[in-house]
Amino acid sequence: MSGYLRLGVNIDHVATIRNARGGEHPDPVRAAKVAAAAGADGITAHLREDRRHIRDADIERLMAEVGLPLNLEMAATPEMLNIALRHCPHACCIVPERREEVTTEGGLDAAGLHNQLKPIVERLGEAGIRVSLFINAERRQLEAAKSLGAPVVELHTGAYCDVAFARENAKRDAELARLANAARDGAALGLEVHAGHGLTFDTVAPVAAMPELAELNIGHFLIGEAIFTGLDASIRRMRATMDEARGAAARQDTKDRA
Ligand code: PXP
Repeated sequence: MSGYLRLGVNIDHVATIRNARGGEHPDPVRAAKVAAAAGADGITAHLREDRRHIRDADIERLMAEVGLPLNLEMAATPEMLNIALRHCPHACCIVPERREEVTTEGGLDAAGLHNQLKPIVERLGEAGIRVSLFINAERRQLEAAKSLGAPVVELHTGAYCDVAFARENAKRDAELARLANAARDGAALGLEVHAGHGLTFDTVAPVAAMPELAELNIGHFLIGEAIFTGLDASIRRMRATMDEARGAAARQDTKDRA
């Protein structure tokens, strides 16, 4: 299960800065091209109902001008389903969305929303779009994703990052254990497991070391760090940190098995 860990770069906050003034600068599509050159494996973008990040025209350009697979984050609504079916991105990650939230605060209740999600997962899947559900690291949510027929889940790492940032070590270890168990359980159920939200240079390593994870999606920190070091350097350092952590974990695993 261990192997290459893909990095999806979320370019939403380049659009947030652009939208603060209107106009075209900074251009999220240019950011996606820089990400591609810096070693990103995919681009992630969240088309929100209120369009506070990327806009409809950005999706068109991301599809047309960027050579990386697009992972479109979207709420489970008829409007977003129609947009996804019109553009047919490589992947769609279904996320919970509340207009008043600052960011995606928790995972999708895949278990409780089964009937709402089922037709959306099916329609996207029929269109050849890889469907992912953004969930909390809980067994019942993994099982719900499996029963919905979603091939991929993304584990919400926000709770882990919050306690790691607050240096609450016992809570951080508990959150990491929850994520590691969910990654194992998800893979055992036959799901492809991704993770993301709130990850930084300081928090990414233990997550990247989880051998069942296939992809991390990271945005806000990378864009913020780019202010100081440039986007290319910020992404390259994240890529290297992930590779180092994954390599060290694989070496340790080989040693443990010997
Ligand atoms: N994955 C999902 C499903 C998200 O909704 C987000 C935030 O839009 C991210 C990853 C990236 O989170 P962050 O911007 O905190 O790195």
